[in-house]
Amino acid sequence: METLSWRDGVLYILDQTLLPHNVVYLQVKDYRQVIEAIRRLAVRGAPAIGAAAAYAVVLAATEAAESGKEGFMDRLTAAAAEIGGARPTAVNLQWAVKRQLRVAAEAAPEPGKVIRRLLAEAEAVFAADVEANRVMGALGAELLPRGARVLTHCNAGGLATCGYGTALGVIRAAHAAGKIKMVYADETRPLLQGARLTVFELMRERIPVTLITDSMAGFLMAGRGLDAVIVGADRIAANGDVANKIGTYSLAVLSKYHGVPFYVAAPVSTIDPAARDGAGIPIEERGAGEVTELAGVCVAPDGAAAWNPAFDVTPGSLITAIITERGVFYPPFELN
Ligand code: MRU
Repeated sequence: METLSWRDGVLYILDQTLLPHNVVYLQVKDYRQVIEAIRRLAVRGAPAIGAAAAYAVVLAATEAAESGKEGFMDRLTAAAAEIGGARPTAVNLQWAVKRQLRVAAEAAPEPGKVIRRLLAEAEAVFAADVEANRVMGALGAELLPRGARVLTHCNAGGLATCGYGTALGVIRAAHAAGKIKMVYADETRPLLQGARLTVFELMRERIPVTLITDSMAGFLMAGRGLDAVIVGADRIAANGDVANKIGTYSLAVLSKYHGVPFYVAAPVSTIDPAARDGAGIPIEERGAGEVTELAGVCVAPDGAAAWNPAFDVTPGSLITAIITERGVFYPPFELN
């Protein structure tokens, strides 16, 4: 199932807010609709957001060209800044926009040439992500024992990327090698990416998966036992601190206590050398309604206050290894 695809000037975006029960593709021709889709998590997951942003710049360039050559690059640059601001934490978004602006500057000033070059670059971003995921899958699968019981959080699968997945890519590769006994998927409150998306993906692939609520992870480690936790990342600082979906940090602390290896799988486009440590990573805070409501039903008293950070930061000291397409890195991390 494709997260994103481009045909004849239209970007098709799988609306992940409707999964697992409805498979609907948004047909997007305006870069503002891509921003909206990113903000409301119709497309989500760091690498998928990056690729969507790369295509959004193509749409922005097409619109900017309609007003002529005069001021074309200024209009494109202004739109690219809007795209780069759609969500703050996943660095792949700004990475893709910066990459597109470099390409546009090289091809300027001819709008037609800029648009062609931008589209080729967006396709290259997409293809490179799938390839990176396959490499990470192979490298990560080596780290898991036979009969592995693995826990994952949020959704770092094909849906969060351009295909195959980062953390789920490792699980896919390990399953293909006959190593996976069971995958435990955290439901991932408040928006349930684990329950809705990870379980959906793994069931479609016939990989054994058991859904748990986030609060069950400690009891799982203490009781049934677990061989590894593997998660994705939205931004990795130079010292190996990792921002990922809220709840990841708690899992890393639990893993340390129970002696369970804690792995992060992410492409190098998720590493932000400008962030020296986790304190330099902006953390998105979303609306309180996502916490007070469950699937659109209010579960808290009317007027209840709620805090909703969408991500947390796991210190590199709690991470066993970071798996990238350029190799597996161990602490102390120096990811410059
Ligand atoms: O808010 P989301 O659903 O975009 O958060 C996604 C995550 O936290 C993923 O774990 C991360 O982006 C890695 S995806 C390969």
